[in-house]
Amino acid sequence: MPILMNEFDGLPFTEAVAARTADVFDRVKDVILEVEWPLVAPEIDAIRRLKRERNAIVLAHNYQTPDIFHGVADIVGDSLALARRAAETEADVIVQAGVHFMAETAKLVNPDKTVLLPDLQAGCSLAASITGADVRLLREAYPGVPIVTYVNTSAEVKAEADICCTSGNAVRIVESLDAPRVIVLPDEYLANYIAGQTDVEIIGWHGRCEVHERFAGEEIDAFREGYDGLTVIAHPECPPDVLDAADFVGSTAQMIDYVASKRPGRVLLMTECSMSDNVAVEVPDTEFVRPCNLCPHMKRITLPKIRRALESLSPEVMVDDAIASKARESVERMLAVA
Ligand code: 13P
Ligand code: SF4
Repeated sequence: MPILMNEFDGLPFTEAVAARTADVFDRVKDVILEVEWPLVAPEIDAIRRLKRERNAIVLAHNYQTPDIFHGVADIVGDSLALARRAAETEADVIVQAGVHFMAETAKLVNPDKTVLLPDLQAGCSLAASITGADVRLLREAYPGVPIVTYVNTSAEVKAEADICCTSGNAVRIVESLDAPRVIVLPDEYLANYIAGQTDVEIIGWHGRCEVHERFAGEEIDAFREGYDGLTVIAHPECPPDVLDAADFVGSTAQMIDYVASKRPGRVLLMTECSMSDNVAVEVPDTEFVRPCNLCPHMKRITLPKIRRALESLSPEVMVDDAIASKARESVERMLAVA
C-alpha cells in the first residue's frame, strides 16, 4: 500500500541520509515504493536523531504503516505487548504510534513520563461506543457481576471496570474471575467469540470495530475459490461468520506468530491492511492475499507527525487524576493475570 505523501515536508534526501537509513530500506524495499524513499528516509533519519536527544522511544501497533513499524519503532506489537512493554521502559518520553486509548494506557502505567500521541484525533470506534456512565448503569443492572473492559476503551471506562483484557488474553481474564457470569465490554463480536471459548456466561455490549465489522464470511469463500491452498486468519473483532470460516483466530500478535511459525504458502489476514505489509517483510516466502480495510484512526499517525511531536514534545496525553488510579488498577490487574 503506498504511503500517504501529502503530509511530508520535503526534508532534504542527502547521501548521508541515504547511508544512515540504508538498513531500513533494505528491510522495507518490497513494501515501500522506491519513489517514496527520498521523502521517507529524511523523516526516519530525523526521528532517530530526536529519539536519542529526547531519550524517547516509539511504541508502534501492528497496524502502523511499514515506514513507521520498521523505520522508527523501538517496540512493536499488539495492544497487550504495548501495554506490557510501556510499563517496563526507562525512556523519559514515549511516542505512541497508535490510537488514543493506547497512549492513555501507556500514560496510566507511566504517570511520570511524557506520553505523546502525534495526532490527538486518532480515536477508535470501540472506545467511542461506551462511556463511564454506561458502565455504572450496567453495574446497577447486574449487581455483583464482574466487569471486564477491552483495552480499546477510554481511561474513564477502564476506571469503572474491574479488570481490562485484550484480544490476546480475553478468555484467560474472564476465566480468572471465577464467576458464572461476566460482563465483557464493549466489543459485541469479541464478547461473542469469548462466549464460544468458555462456559462462563457472557453479557456483552453493542460496540464494534469499524474496520473488522466490514469483513464478511462470504468474502472468505470467494477468496478460497480464487486462491488454492489459502490459509485464512481472522481477528476476534470480526463478525461470527468470518471467525467460523477462518482457520485460526487470534490477536494481531497471535496472527503474526501463527504466520511466522507455520509459514503458510498463501495467507489472508482478516484484519487491518497494513499488517500484511509489516509481516510480509518477515516472511518473504509467504504470499499475502490482501483485502485492504484501513483503520482511519491508525492512519492519522505519520512520520512527519511523529517528528513534529518529538520536536515540540506535544501533543501530550494526560489522564485526569480522579480516574487515573482506578483505571491503572484495571490495567495492572490484567497485567498480573496474563
Ligand atoms: P490487538 O493488536 O490487541 O489484537 O488489537 C487489534 C486492534 O484493533 C487494536 O486497535
Ligand atoms: Fe479501533 Fe478498529 Fe481502529 Fe483498532 S482497528 S483502533 S479497534 S477502529
